[in-house]
Amino acid sequence: MIKCVSRLISTLSGKEEFGCDVSGIAIRRLPASRWEDYRRLRLTALGTDPAAFGSSVEEEETYGMDAWQQRIGSALFALSGDVPVGMISLVFRNRIKTSHAADIFGMFVDEHFRGKGVGEALLKSAITLASAGGEIVKIALMVNPAQNAAFKLYEKHGFAVVGKLKKELKVDGLFHDTYVMEKFL
Ligand SMILES: CC(C)(COP(=O)(O)OP(=O)(O)OC[C@H]1O[C@@H](n2cnc3c(N)ncnc32)[C@H](O)[C@@H]1OP(=O)(O)O)[C@@H](O)C(=O)NCCC(=O)NCCS
Repeated sequence: MIKCVSRLISTLSGKEEFGCDVSGIAIRRLPASRWEDYRRLRLTALGTDPAAFGSSVEEEETYGMDAWQQRIGSALFALSGDVPVGMISLVFRNRIKTSHAADIFGMFVDEHFRGKGVGEALLKSAITLASAGGEIVKIALMVNPAQNAAFKLYEKHGFAVVGKLKKELKVDGLFHDTYVMEKFL
């Protein structure tokens, strides 16, 4: 099992960046120039776990470079060597009345890397990042409870169900409810 103490690391340039090193896996941001790696992993996620996400391959495979380069800025990646094998997005809300909250989206770990603590390292990193500035008081996310691994992972890290959206997703003709979960920092 991966042991990860996520933290803000000081780089040689003196600039603070986010980082977390674990055995064989590093949690890092990727620059906009790596947008094709991000696109590849995201389309894999939407393809292998369609009931986990509100979006779909059909929609996102039409997105252009600009959209991927914009979105990659919110993502943290689990890198095996230099290859992204997992990711999570933490989005800080930018409106005055809601900027005390952040949202998690797009949590995914490649099937071959599951069960080793990678998802946990990603989630802990996102929580650490949200906490770092001292301004964020809660993190929110939505999860299909049929994604049992994800639901259990969120519960383990202090997210509680605060609402249920009935028949929120329709995947291959089947309706799925979605839970809204929140964690207070
Ligand atoms: C959810 C997901 C990211 C977990 O990644 P992972 O790297 O396999 O998870 P970890 O190995 O870090 O497991 C951490 C915790 O998650 C939960 N968990 C992980 N796999 C589980 C499983 N098969 N069954 C039940 N709980 C599980 C457990 O609480 C586990 O802690 P424990 O080992 O102390 O029991 C991964 O299964 C995934 O990508 N699923 C498909 C996409 C998805 O559902 N995304 C969520 C969108 S909201």
